[in-house]
Order: sequence, then C-alpha cells, then structure tokens
Amino acid sequence: MGWEEVDEGWGARARDWAYLFETGWWPEFDEVLRVAGVGEGTRHLDVCCGSGLAVQMADRRGATVHGLDASDRLLAVARARTPDGDIRHGDMHALPWDDGSFDVVSSFRGIWGTNDQAVVEAARMLRPGGAFAVTFFPVDDPAPWDQWWSSITCLSDHELAVGAALGSIADEGRIEEMCEAAGLEPGGRRSIHFEVEVPDLEDFVRASLSAGPTWKAIEERGQDDVEESLRRDFTPLWDEKVGLRIGVAVEYLIATKPA
Ligand SMILES: C[S@@+](CC[C@H](N)C(=O)[O-])C[C@H]1O[C@@H](n2cnc3c(N)ncnc32)[C@H](O)[C@@H]1O
Repeated sequence: MGWEEVDEGWGARARDWAYLFETGWWPEFDEVLRVAGVGEGTRHLDVCCGSGLAVQMADRRGATVHGLDASDRLLAVARARTPDGDIRHGDMHALPWDDGSFDVVSSFRGIWGTNDQAVVEAARMLRPGGAFAVTFFPVDDPAPWDQWWSSITCLSDHELAVGAALGSIADEGRIEEMCEAAGLEPGGRRSIHFEVEVPDLEDFVRASLSAGPTWKAIEERGQDDVEESLRRDFTPLWDEKVGLRIGVAVEYLIATKPA
C-alpha cells in the first residue's frame, strides 16, 4: 500500500481513533515530550502525527508545533485541535520542510522497522544538537496490550509477514542501526508503562475498529469475526468496579544529531 492510500484505513473512523483511542495514550506523549526537552519556544515536528494529540500537548508546553501524516481525515482533527500548528499532509519518507528546521522531531508508533528512509528524513530536519524521539512496542511484550495484536491479526501469511517486518524496529540493535545510518547518535532505550482505560467492552471494541491494522483485518476476516476476537480476548480483563484497564508497555529512544 502506498502512502496515498493510507487514509483508506486510518481515516475511515478518524473521530473514533481521535476521541476513543488516541486519548488513552497521553502518558506516552507526556513522558517523551518532557524527556526530549519540548518546552517554551522549542521548534517541534511530530511525524505520523495522526489526529494530533501529541502536537496539541507540545503546543500546550509552549513549543512551535508542526505535524505530518498521510491521513487527511485524521489531519482534519489535528488541525481543529491546534489551529495555529503547521500541520501537513504527506509521506514520512519525504518531509516537506527545510533542512535543520527543528530542535526536536518525534514519532509515536509511526516509524517502523521498514522505514529507514523516514529516520534519514527526521535527521535531515534536525538542527545540529537536535533530538529525534521515537516510540515502538517492545519485542515479546509481556504487557496485556500485546493481546490486542493477536486479536486483530489478519489470517494471511502476507499480513503476518508485514506485521513482523514493521515490529522488527524493536529487535536488538535495529532502531540504533537505523539512527546511526541516518547520522544520529542513539541514546539508551527506555520503557513507559501505563494503563489504557475504557469504561466498557463495547467502547473498547468500537475504539479498536478505528486503527489501520484493524481495517486490514476486517477486509480479510469480516467485522463480526474481528469483533468476536476482541470480546473473547478482553472479557477476562473486565472488572465491574473499574471497567477495562489494559496495561501497555512502550519503548522509546532519543537520538541526537551531532553538533
Ligand atoms: C499507529 S498510528 C500513530 C498515530 C499517532 N502518532 C498516535 O500516536 O496516535 C500510525 C500513523 O501513521 C500514519 N502513516 C502511515 N503511513 C504513513 C506515511 N507513509 N507517511 C505519513 N504518515 C503515515 C497513519 O495515518 C497513522 O496516523
């Protein structure tokens, strides 16, 4: 699938993604923006910004904010959330700003193991001494969230192979190698643990249907089958007093452009 077709899947349920799904990931955005030093006056770019919660949070920290994504329908929400941001439609592999424009470039689960060129582009965007922050899911993730991938996994060998290639960003040394090839100096990996909170199972199913990979699974298996998997796999986590609280683990790394 080329980047021009990304909106077919990611944009199909853009408001559900923005309001039911993305909001649950604020602890990840909060920690990474803070550790990467995004604050008053920082020139910040978020690559694969989706519906733009991270852009909005950077804006609230006082940064001058920019975002890029391939899904027009997600970007409509991002622009509504941060009207003063410079938020553009495009491909992460060919970024439309001048070299050295930013102090910090981030990407939250948007750059994967097959996107070496996107890291090269992120590095090109940074001023000397600037920081690139990237998040991804750990290998053999022990957090309950990992079940989500199995629940929505497509049946075809092709889709399984695509998923494995994307997830390879977390393999030992892989993101470090991608950063070094782009001329960046990678720091150590760090982990964030938090809970995605959803009031009931049906809200969770609806939220899950909005993600791009779920759209692919629905194409292959049909919506009823995907919904059934989600209900079956997540019912054990349901608690009458607190609803669904699903533990998530995310890894991230900050790489620096040599001064
Ligand atoms: C897992 S979502 C993450 C979105 C956002 N960072 C967040 O945390 O909610 C992946 C995002 O990558 C975008 N995307 C996929 N391929 C892209 C490409 N080639 N160029 C730019 N954006 C792309 C999708 O539209 C989607 O918004």
